[in-house]
Amino acid sequence: MSFEYHEGTKHSYESIRNSPNYLDWNTQPSALKIYNKFEDIIKLDGKSDLHNFIYRLGGITDKKTYPSNEYYLRTLPSAGALFPVEIYFQAREVEGFKDGIYHFDVANSSVKLLYELDGDGIESAYEDNRAIKGLIVLYSTIYYRSSWKYKHRGFRYCLLDCGHALGAMEASSYLYDHACVIRYRFDKMQLNEAFGFGEQEFFLASGILGIPKKERIETFNMQLEDINPKYERNEMIEKAYQDSLELSSCKSKYTFWEFSFHKEIFEETIFKRRSIREFTTSTITKASYEAILEIALKPVMSDCDEEVQLYCIVNAVEGVKRGLYLDGKYLKEGDFRKQAGYLCLEQALGSQSAVTFFLTTGAKNYQSAYQKAGIIGHRLYLASEYLKIGCSGIGAYYDDETKAFLQSDDMILYGVTIGT
Ligand SMILES: Cc1cc2nc3c(=O)[nH]c(=O)nc-3n(C[C@H](O)[C@H](O)[C@H](O)COP(=O)(O)O)c2cc1C
Repeated sequence: MSFEYHEGTKHSYESIRNSPNYLDWNTQPSALKIYNKFEDIIKLDGKSDLHNFIYRLGGITDKKTYPSNEYYLRTLPSAGALFPVEIYFQAREVEGFKDGIYHFDVANSSVKLLYELDGDGIESAYEDNRAIKGLIVLYSTIYYRSSWKYKHRGFRYCLLDCGHALGAMEASSYLYDHACVIRYRFDKMQLNEAFGFGEQEFFLASGILGIPKKERIETFNMQLEDINPKYERNEMIEKAYQDSLELSSCKSKYTFWEFSFHKEIFEETIFKRRSIREFTTSTITKASYEAILEIALKPVMSDCDEEVQLYCIVNAVEGVKRGLYLDGKYLKEGDFRKQAGYLCLEQALGSQSAVTFFLTTGAKNYQSAYQKAGIIGHRLYLASEYLKIGCSGIGAYYDDETKAFLQSDDMILYGVTIGT
């Protein structure tokens, strides 16, 4: 099973050479959305567990300054540091928050109240519309932030980045001692409309941290204005979103499990997480490799769980034979360093790593499968960082050549490298 958009956005040796990508720095969109007109603001000052929970969803953890500009790094990695994902949430009966819809204003480390509930709520966009006492976190993407640089392929990165954001929610909720469930099945078009998004921002996923009550919510009366600048449209991406909106034959997975990290160290890990830029080609221990794999392969709790395969090219793990593995099974023996680097669009990260992973799927529900790859990618980042091992996502790879190497017909969704 492949998806037309995916087929049309493959990288190959020829495509990279035949269509070089020139960037127009004058049109780079801001990575920070700010609702200026709304004045009911809560500063995330670290004084409550809930403030900390929200901050960890995507808050700023570092700043890079260059002569011509500066940009922020966050708890989330992001392809090209373009951060196409926006975070909103509904709070109902939550201490310190009026019942309402909020936007996470990352630039100002605060949340802004956009709308106060009045007997209504976003639960009306869900099949099970029982009122949720707690939080419903909503994830949208402003795709031009990514397509500005990555053109048609940008939608893939929006989905991966959103998966990372869901992974950050999973990690943050562990420290907040609340279970979270990912929900892809809600009326996204209804909410896109209510939030006044136009065609250039749209919802991809949501997460629920709360308890369903008996009361049902039938309506949602909010109507916001579109405050996004008018960006250059990308019809292929808008079509891909529409074509993958309808989910079919979804399987829910609600197998509860918990991370078993030392909580204080894990909190530091979230704040310290960075993408590694260069490896030394040294080995990592078998115990570390197995611990990272175990976390990556734990179930992802969602209402539309898709099969995602995790292929491992082992380059340098003490006591583990070099080669290609899937589900712990040895598929091919050999030293594939050079090949792994080549497949990652000739990036040295792929060849100098201890392990280079590729995530693939044959699933029908493209949006949920892609975001699941991002969630697994986020777990690989956090588990590695926790063990003082470097990690980097790899969104740029040769699609068909990777398929041939893995001997798989699946779509290649993501690459991830780990090492020291
Ligand atoms: C989906 C995704 C794809 C990425 N692809 C690449 C890549 O191909 N090559 C690379 O060097 N870094 C890649 N990165 C890492 C980003 O460049 C990095 O996350 C970003 O610059 C922010 O820095 P930080 O992760 O250190 O906070 C990717 C990250 C993500 C989330």
